[in-house]
Parts: sequence; structure tokens; C-alpha cells
Amino acid sequence: MNKKIIVKLPYITQEIFIGEKMLDFVVSKIKSRKYDKYILIVDINAKKDRRNYFNRLINDLNIVDIIVLQPTPNYKSFKECEKVIKRLIKVKASRKSCLISVGGGYVSDITGYVASNYMRGIGFVQISTTLMSMVDAVIGKVAINYGNYKNLLGSFYSPKFVFSDLNFLSTLRKEEKVLGLSEVWKHALIKRDEDIVKKIESYLLNFSDKHYSEFIHFSMRVKKSCVENDYDDRIGSHKALSLGHTFANFLERKSKMRHGVAVMYGIIFATILSKRLGKLSLENYTRIIKTAKRFEKNIGLLKSIQKDLKVKKVLESFFSDKISENNSLNFVLPIDSGYLIYKNIPEKIATEALEIFKKLEL
Ligand SMILES: NC(=O)c1ccc[n+]([C@@H]2O[C@H](COP(=O)([O-])OP(=O)(O)OC[C@H]3O[C@@H](n4cnc5c(N)ncnc54)[C@H](O)[C@@H]3O)[C@@H](O)[C@H]2O)c1
Repeated sequence: MNKKIIVKLPYITQEIFIGEKMLDFVVSKIKSRKYDKYILIVDINAKKDRRNYFNRLINDLNIVDIIVLQPTPNYKSFKECEKVIKRLIKVKASRKSCLISVGGGYVSDITGYVASNYMRGIGFVQISTTLMSMVDAVIGKVAINYGNYKNLLGSFYSPKFVFSDLNFLSTLRKEEKVLGLSEVWKHALIKRDEDIVKKIESYLLNFSDKHYSEFIHFSMRVKKSCVENDYDDRIGSHKALSLGHTFANFLERKSKMRHGVAVMYGIIFATILSKRLGKLSLENYTRIIKTAKRFEKNIGLLKSIQKDLKVKKVLESFFSDKISENNSLNFVLPIDSGYLIYKNIPEKIATEALEIFKKLEL
């Protein structure tokens, strides 16, 4: 039986499904919307060794074009969107057509960005194939990079359906699963859910499949609660999802570090900052650092990040991050009761927290 989550946004009611062997269900749900044409946008690695799955999807939905994308370090570029747009023009996609992304966050952001712009918005469905794109499926926002600017171009846009079929995870590399878990950790800290934190720690030791469905369902509920009340990211609850992202944005820009890895170190820095600002008890600080140690055993980049960290450069990046405004340094912090959007952090405290981060041992 599939798990279902409904997200109500002003412009769409989104349905998210989590299950296994979902192909028949996926086809019938998509068909029920009566789009006029379907275009598949597929991650090359998700497609590999799944000939039967894709043949059936293509035949049952009468797919008119299949665009295969390969995630590259030149992440989510406008050029790649242009390639997709040209193909849509070629097959005469209309306002009633639907783009179906089958892949991770890379493919779903490109697909969603194009879907939101082509003819001012056409159908969009997400079939998630990475743990990251299942636990952090698109709810309310899509974005691509432009030049050196991360997620600069984007829209408030959501897929009508998200399907998280756990069978896709069988071919996903272990490292990719760890990256997805960093977002689950973020969600667990926002809601202070110690039971989920313990399951994350256990997963990082034994990599058992048994918690995937629970991790995805939990994360989708948290993301739904943050976005539904603040769909255009103005009131504050949406910002909770940026926990760990301000430092992560610096790391991703500087070293093209993967999003999930950067978020993990971003959460660690936000934890140090919160403790330094007196917003986190020693007990909770120690608890968060305990989980961080488990992540670090699997990722192991702390020493090289510390070695290259130039405090001045990081501060510049913090002040230009989208969460900081009017020269005020703002951060989402993990606190004892969940999260806090802390404004006007003194530069001196941020500098001290960075110095502590540079010496941290995990
Ligand atoms: N719009 C949003 O709400 C949102 C949310 C989360 C992440 N994102 C974006 O998503 C991107 C990261 O997504 P990601 O971590 O899924 O990375 P990704 O899409 O690059 O996928 C990671 C790797 O896994 C491979 N892959 C995908 N499915 C596979 C499968 N089933 N088996 C084997 N290999 C497979 C891909 O080819 C790639 O090499 C970032 O750009 C981030 O900004 C956006």
C-alpha cells in the first residue's frame, strides 16, 4: 500500500506517493489528468538496467520524446534547459502537455524550471530516483544555477504528482544515500524528533533498507508543514528548510561540493553558532555533534574543509546569502525546541563560531 501526502498550495494541490513497484499506479494516476502529450526527462543512471520499466512507461503513456540528461559538475545550467525547450518546440508541446522527470534533484529542478516557464507553465510530474529527491522532493520551489550563482533562476512551482518508488534505490550508490540522509537530519532537527535521529544514526552504521519509507514520509510531512503555511517564502516557516544551507551555499559555490554533503557541514556550523549565541544547551549541542560524528565517518571531508577555510571569504558569502538582508547577518539555527530564524548576528560572533568550526574534531 502506497503512503500518500497531500500538499495544498494556492495554485495546485500536490499529491506525493511513497511505495514499491509503483509503475501501474504511476501510469494510471498520470493518465487520469488527461494531458495531451507526455515528454520524459530522464537521468541516464536511473535509466540504466531498467529497460522494462521505461519501455512500459513509454508505451503506456504514448511518450512523444525522451530527453536523457547526465548530471555534470556544470550543475543545472540554463543551457541544459534550453536544450529541453528546443525539443519541446520540436514535438509541439502545448499548454496541456506534461513533463515527467525521472531522476534525482538535478533532473527535477531542470524539468520543473522548464515546465514553469514554457508557455507560462505546463504539466509537471516528478518520479524521484535518489534518496535526496525522495526526502526533499519538490514542494513549491524549483531552481537552476546561472554562471557562478546557485539556484539564481527559479519559480514557485510544484509537480502535480511526486512518486517515490523505493525500488529505484537498489542501484543508488551508498554515498548518494548518505547525502539524502543529511536532509532527513535537518528535518529531524527542525521538529526535534529524537526517534528519527536515532534511526539515522543506526542507518549510518548498518545501511539497512528498513527505514527508507519512514524517512521519506517523515521528511515530506515536515517539508509540507513548512511550505504550506508560507508557500512564497515570506512569513518564516519556509525559511526553516534553510537550516544548514547558508554555510552549505558557500561550500557548494567554492568547491562545487555536492548539496547533501554541504548541508551536513552546514548543520554542524549552525549548531556551533547557535551554541555560541546561547541558543542551544550543552546537552543538545553534544547530542547533535554525536550524530555529526556518524556522518563524518561516512563522508570524511572535515579536515580538508577546515584547511582551506578563509574566514573573511565565508563572512562575505554569509552577507550575500539570500537569507541575509540589508546588511544584516541572518541564520536558521537549531535550538533546544526546534529552530529559530536569528537576525542581526554580530560579525564578531560569526567569526568566533568559524574559528571554533576550524578546530572542531569529529
Ligand atoms: N527544488 C527542490 O526542492 C530541491 C530539493 C532537493 C534538492 N534539489 C537539488 O537537487 C540537486 C541534488 O539532487 P540529488 O542529490 O538527487 O543529485 P543528482 O540528481 O545529481 O543525482 C545524484 C547521482 O545519482 C545518479 N542517479 C540518480 N538516480 C539513480 C538511481 N536510481 N540509481 C543509480 N544512480 C542514480 C545520478 O545520475 C547522479 O549521478 C541539487 O542541485 C539540489 O539543489 C532541489
